[in-house]
Amino acid sequence: MPNIIILFSLKLVVFLTMFPLCANAATYNVLDFGAKPNNGTDSTKPFLQAWSLACRSVAPATMWIPRGTYLVNTIAFSGPCKSARVTVQIDGKIQAPPRNYWDIGNYGNWVLFQGIDGLTINCGILDARGSQLWDCKRSGANCPQGVTSLTFNSIKNGIVSGIVSVDSQRAHMAINGCNNMKVRKVILIAPDQSPNTDGIDIQSSTGVTIIDSSIRTGDDCIAIGPGTKNLLVQRVACGPGHGISIGSLARNPNEAGVEGITVKDVTFTGSDNGLRIKTWPKPSDGFVKNVLYENIIMNNVRNPIIIDQIYCPGTKGCSDQNSGVKITGVTYLNISGTSATPIAIRFHCSATTPCSGIKLHNVNLTYSKQPAKAFCFSTLGTSSVGQLGASLSVGQLGTSLSVGRPSPGSCF
Ligand SMILES: *[C@@H]1O[C@H](CO)[C@@H](O)[C@H](O)[C@H]1NC(C)=O
Ligand SMILES: *[C@@H]1O[C@H](CO)[C@@H](O)[C@H](O)[C@H]1NC(C)=O
Ligand SMILES: *[C@@H]1O[C@H](CO)[C@@H](O)[C@H](O)[C@H]1NC(C)=O
Repeated sequence: MPNIIILFSLKLVVFLTMFPLCANAATYNVLDFGAKPNNGTDSTKPFLQAWSLACRSVAPATMWIPRGTYLVNTIAFSGPCKSARVTVQIDGKIQAPPRNYWDIGNYGNWVLFQGIDGLTINCGILDARGSQLWDCKRSGANCPQGVTSLTFNSIKNGIVSGIVSVDSQRAHMAINGCNNMKVRKVILIAPDQSPNTDGIDIQSSTGVTIIDSSIRTGDDCIAIGPGTKNLLVQRVACGPGHGISIGSLARNPNEAGVEGITVKDVTFTGSDNGLRIKTWPKPSDGFVKNVLYENIIMNNVRNPIIIDQIYCPGTKGCSDQNSGVKITGVTYLNISGTSATPIAIRFHCSATTPCSGIKLHNVNLTYSKQPAKAFCFSTLGTSSVGQLGASLSVGQLGTSLSVGRPSPGSCF
C-alpha cells in the first residue's frame, strides 16, 4: 500500500513537472538570450530569439524584458503563434540606436507586431529618439521619412497596456487591419510642432478601444483612417497637437468608409483642432457615418469642432474640385469650453454631397468670454441647447455666418 502511494506521488510530481498547473509558466527572459542592457549593445537578436520561443510555446507564454535600457533596431515580432495568448512584459526601456533615422528611417516601422491572435503588451518605455529627424525635416533637407514607433498589423484580440512612448520619429503607434484591440493607459509624448508625430493612427480596423490615455504630440492625437469601424475613444487627454481627426479621407478614389465612431469624456488642451473630420476635395466613394462626440471639454482650442471637406494642403491640383465623401449622422453632445479663435464651429461640407444629420445638442463654446461663432456651408442638421429646448440657429453660438456659395440648408 505505501508503495502504491509513493508511486502515485512520483507520478504526480512527474506530471506536474511536465505540465505545470500554472498555464502561464513559460517565461522567456531576453537576458537569457544575450540581451545586454545599459551598455550600448544591440539587443535586436536576443529579443527575436526570446520572441520566437514565446510564440512557438504551446502554453500561453511571456517574453520578458527586465529593467534596463536596451538598444533595438527595426524589429518584427511575427505570428501566428501556437497558444491563445502571448504576453510581452516590458519592465525596461527600448531605445532606438543613436542617429538611427539614417539607418532605419526608411523602413516604415521600428517595433512591429504582425499576424498574431491573442497578444498582450504590458508596460515599457519606447524612445525612438526622433529629435534629430525633426531637425532634419525642419531644415528642409532631404531626410528619411522616419519610422512609426509601435505598429500593429493584423492583430486580433490584442491588449496594449501601460506603454509610454516618447520622441517618436513619426507616429507613436499605428493600428492596421486589426480586430478587437484594447489600448489602455498609454502615454504618448513628443513636443508641440514636432513634424508628423501622430499619437495613434488607425485604419482598416474593427473594434478598437482607446481608453484612459494621455497624448501630447506634434501632429494628430488620434487619426482615424479609411476602413475604421466601431472605434471607442474614452477618457483621453489630448493636446498639444492637431486633435482627434477622422481622415484625411478621399486621398484615393476607392476607399473604405468610416463608421461607428464614439469619442467620449475627452479633454483637448491647447490643440489646433478638437473634433475634426477632414477630406480632400477629390472624387471618392468613401463615407463617414454614425459618429458620436459626447462630454468633451475644450481648453483654448483653435478649431474645437470642424468638418473640413476642402482639405487640400499645398493645393495640389485639388482646390477646384468637390469631395465625394458623404458625411452623415454626426452628433455633438455636451461640448463645452473655450475656443482660441472667434469661429469655434466650422462645417465646410462638400458642395456636391452635403453633410446630413449633423446634430448639436448642448454645445456651448466661448471665445474671449463671448459666445463663439459658427460657420457652415452645405450642411444639413439640427441644433438645440439642453433645457432651453428651442431650436436655435447653431445654438448659443451667436451669429451663424454663411460664407461662400449659398446652398439650400447651408446653415441651420
Ligand atoms: C557590454 O557588456 C558586455 C558583457 O556584459 C561586454 O561583453 C561588452 O563589451 C559591453 N559593451 C560595451 C560597449 O561596454
Ligand atoms: C457634460 O460633459 C462634462 C465634461 O465631460 C461632464 O462633466 C458632465 O457630466 C456632462 N453632462 C452631462 C449632462 O452628461
Ligand atoms: C455657456 O458657458 C458659459 C461659460 O461657462 C456660461 O456662462 C453659460 O451660462 C453657458 N450657456 C449655456 C446656455 O449653458
